[in-house]
Amino acid sequence: MSENFLEGKIALVTGAGSGFGREMAINFAKKGADLVLNDIDLESIKETRDIILNSHEVEIMLAEADISDEEQVNLMSKKVFQQFDNVFVLVNNAGIRGGSSSLKTKMIDYDMVMNVNVKGAWNVTKAFYKKMRRQKFRPLAGKIINITSCAGTECGLNPFIGIYSVSKTALIAFTKLWALELGSSNISVNAICPGIFLTPIYNNDPNFIREWIKMRNVKIPLDQIGEPNQVADVALFLASPASDYITGQNIIIDGGMTISINKI
Ligand SMILES: NC(=O)c1ccc[n+]([C@@H]2O[C@H](COP(=O)([O-])OP(=O)(O)OC[C@H]3O[C@@H](n4cnc5c(N)ncnc54)[C@H](O)[C@@H]3O)[C@@H](O)[C@H]2O)c1
Repeated sequence: MSENFLEGKIALVTGAGSGFGREMAINFAKKGADLVLNDIDLESIKETRDIILNSHEVEIMLAEADISDEEQVNLMSKKVFQQFDNVFVLVNNAGIRGGSSSLKTKMIDYDMVMNVNVKGAWNVTKAFYKKMRRQKFRPLAGKIINITSCAGTECGLNPFIGIYSVSKTALIAFTKLWALELGSSNISVNAICPGIFLTPIYNNDPNFIREWIKMRNVKIPLDQIGEPNQVADVALFLASPASDYITGQNIIIDGGMTISINKI
C-alpha cells in the first residue's frame, strides 16, 4: 500500500467542522486526499481547513449545506463536481443527538433527528453515487462510510435517546442495503459504529460522559472514554486498499461496551 494512497482522490466528509468529522478529514489529508468539507456551520469548517492547511498541501473546498435539505445537497454535489473530477471517499458523518423516551418525543424533535441522521445521509448518498460509480478507480470506484452508533445496535438501543437510537439503526440498515445496491458498481459501503467518545456531541466534557455512563449503568471493559482520532483511524482503514474486499459491515469501536451490556 503506497504511503499516499489517497493522492488524486477526493474525500468528502459531512459534519467536518468538529469531532470525528474534523479528525477524519485530517487523517485523509495525511494520505494525500483533497477534501470537500461539509457542515451546516461555515465557521467550523473554515477552522478545520486552516488546521489542515497548516501542515498539508492539499486542495480543500468548503461546502456549507444542511444535509437534511435535498436542494442544498444537490447544489453541493453540482459545485463539488465543477471543482473536482471525483469523490472517492464519501463519509456520512454529520449527526445530532436528541429525543428522550421514544413515545414521549415530540414530532418536531423526531423530525429534527431523523431528518439529519437518516434523511441527510440518504440525500447525500443519492446526490453522489451516480457520479461515483462511473469513476475509473479500481478495484473500487468509490467508498462510502456511514457513522452510525452503538445506540443503534441490538444490545445498545437506548430509551434515553430513543429516536437517536432508531435513527442509527436505520443508518446501519442503509449501510447494508446500499452495499447490496452498489456492489455491482464497485462501490463499497461500510459503517463505523462508535461507543462513547469525547466530542462536542457530549459537550467535550468527560465528567458529563462519566455521569451519563453511571446513569445508564454501562460498563466499558477497556475502561476508557474513546478519542476521536481512534474513529478517524478506522475511517482511514476503510478508505484504504487494505479494506477493499469489505462491504456491508458495521464496525463497532466501543472499548467492548456493547458486548458487556447486561453482562458485567
Ligand atoms: N461522540 C460520540 O460518542 C458518538 C458516538 C456514536 C456516534 N456518534 C456519531 O458521530 C457523528 C459525529 O458526531 P461527533 O461526536 O463528532 O459530533 P459533533 O457535534 O462534534 O459533530 C457533528 C457535526 O455535524 C454538523 N451538523 C449537524 N447537523 C448538520 C446538518 N444538518 N448538516 C450538515 N452538518 C451538520 C455539526 O455542525 C457538527 O460539526 C454523528 O453522526 C454522531 O451521531 C458520536
